[in-house]
Amino acid sequence: MIVKVLGSAAGGGFPQANCNCRNCADVRAGKPSLIQRTQSALAVSRDGERWVLLNASPDIRQQIAATPALAPRPGSAVRSSPIVAVALTDGDVDHVAGLLSLREGLPFTLLASPRVLDALAANSIFNVLNPRHVARVALPFGTRVEVGGGLAIGAYPVPGKIALYLEEAGRDFGTREGDRIGLEVSDPATGTAFHYIPGCAAIDAALAGRLAGARLVLFDGTLYTDEEMITQRLSDKTGLRMGHMSMSGSLGSMAAFAALGVERRIYVHINNSNPVLRDDSPERADVQRAGWEVAYDGMEIRL
Ligand code: MLT
Ligand code: MN
Ligand code: ZN
Repeated sequence: MIVKVLGSAAGGGFPQANCNCRNCADVRAGKPSLIQRTQSALAVSRDGERWVLLNASPDIRQQIAATPALAPRPGSAVRSSPIVAVALTDGDVDHVAGLLSLREGLPFTLLASPRVLDALAANSIFNVLNPRHVARVALPFGTRVEVGGGLAIGAYPVPGKIALYLEEAGRDFGTREGDRIGLEVSDPATGTAFHYIPGCAAIDAALAGRLAGARLVLFDGTLYTDEEMITQRLSDKTGLRMGHMSMSGSLGSMAAFAALGVERRIYVHINNSNPVLRDDSPERADVQRAGWEVAYDGMEIRL
């Protein structure tokens, strides 16, 4: 199986258009310890010919242009694409806006939780995806489904949050099971599998049991500390208020994974405020010491 990181940044990307935080200013200025990153998405293939996208980022056109494997094959039909399916982990803008750029008559299967399919159905702009070409399929929990390209996906709910644009003031953000899911992508022929969880508020017992002993997990790397958006005066929200557990601290992902025996751990969906974006930061050294890698655009993993 080939896993490509198309975009390793959280919503807004890196640098973010309206952000003048230290990280964004330094990467814009070309400081060598930081690299630019597009918004959160992966591409997966079993044979290198047919590809499944995991999330559709607002930067999808640029991501496809930067990835020759996702271009039409030489000699193929005048309109064609190796992309056979797109699976979503949530309805956040950084994970669904790219669907609008896949509207040019490309046939593919769109897979998401019933909660996220409902959110898309309620937004009429997504009707540009012609149902004659794009089948919308609900990912069931607790059973694996074949998604094309010889790959299967098992979906499971993770602690999280409803999309920002669906939050209603005064309520508990309306969060229900399936607002955020994790995806276990597998090759049924060999049993090879990995997990993709770009948004997660906590690792509960069910999730810990599921991930224990996994070969590869690509996990929510939004923030290093829960308060960093507030401390840097970027927002008044903590990570947990945004449905993201942080890397550090007793409730953080480094601590939660310490005893899970996961062979390879990679942070994705990294927010522009996160100090691990600097190659030479003590925080980067800290996550590496804990056995984590920090994803970058174009990173390729073979399983
Ligand atoms: C998130 O991951 O919390 C969302 O992408 C936030 C957003 O929609 O901007
Ligand atoms: Mn996001
Ligand atoms: Zn910034």
